[in-house]
Amino acid sequence: MADTISFARGAPSTDILPHEQVREAAQRALTDDWQTALSYGVGIGHPGLCKWVAERHGDVDPAQVMITNGSLEAGALLFAHLVKPGTRVAVEQPTYDRTLLLLQQLGAELVPIPLEADGLDVGALEGALSEGPIEFVHVIPNAHNPAGCTLSVEKRRRLVQLAAEHDFWVFEDDPYRELPFEGEPLETMLSLDGAGKVLHASSFSKTVSPGVRVGYLIGPAEEVAKLSKRANELYISPNMLAESIVLELCTSGVLDQNIAFVKGELKARCEALVEALREKIPEAVFVVPQGGYFLWLDLAEGTDTKSLLAESKGEGVSFVAGPDFMIDGGENSLRLSFAPVPADVAGEGVARIATALDKLRAGSPA
Ligand SMILES: Cc1ncc(COP(=O)(O)O)c(C=O)c1O
Repeated sequence: MADTISFARGAPSTDILPHEQVREAAQRALTDDWQTALSYGVGIGHPGLCKWVAERHGDVDPAQVMITNGSLEAGALLFAHLVKPGTRVAVEQPTYDRTLLLLQQLGAELVPIPLEADGLDVGALEGALSEGPIEFVHVIPNAHNPAGCTLSVEKRRRLVQLAAEHDFWVFEDDPYRELPFEGEPLETMLSLDGAGKVLHASSFSKTVSPGVRVGYLIGPAEEVAKLSKRANELYISPNMLAESIVLELCTSGVLDQNIAFVKGELKARCEALVEALREKIPEAVFVVPQGGYFLWLDLAEGTDTKSLLAESKGEGVSFVAGPDFMIDGGENSLRLSFAPVPADVAGEGVARIATALDKLRAGSPA
């Protein structure tokens, strides 16, 4: 059979990774910054990169920034710091599966909040707040994983207002912010927050490469100090060599060039996927992504996407079934990641899913 086409992983195919640029940046980092790059650091990570990130976010003090080994680690440190068994945490539905896993492991009481085409249903969050205090709200504002939607600016403002009124933390989990297909990135909730209730995480996984494992957290300086102490106790310092290389990419302008290139590639991949879905699986209902990596689609009621996945693997294509991203439900939904699938392959991938869907409905064994 032809090679499997995988829409499963939230990672780009290697042909769009900037390996030459990273190789050259590594050489420069090891010439100009080798003492820092090759030494133990402290919990906040590379001070030069903290400063660069602070400047990138405008009005932020470098003391509010810590660099982590990817943004998932920032989230995990934060959850371990703020979430105890029984802490009420609002999560979007669907949401990033690893967030659900981390929160479930800590014994959080998860409060599901549905998503709309323009992001979190803020009315539903207000309803949940009227039923009891919520201490923490997890939000993926841009090019949502897995839903593909982007939170409107009005909702960002309202959420920040609610956080101040009801005294809850907003965890703005934002690795896709710099990847809108058109225009500039939207304002962060961090930048709208006057009450010090937003903790913002982002990453170089999507703008440089996932293997570089460099992300960051920005929040009130006293929280960042506590978290960096925890980081120092756990792993001394994050990976200083990787951070030195990333800093070199940032200050040389190569990062911005790469972002422009990657956005073009992702946009072409997304468009090819959308066109193929409209043609080959017209029953699919989805929000057209405005950036990032993911498209979330609903099939007809009663379709079991776990069985569809098993059938699809037999046809040489894979994706992630909806229930993986849900506390409950999601049976007739699935996530397609277009980042790993070149535009000229998307049509074949969707055709294979359409064939699997026909076979599933015809009752042939998976
Ligand atoms: C919403 C979200 N948060 C966090 C992460 C973790 O990213 P990383 O640890 O590579 O920065 C991802 C990765 O796919 C993600 O989609």
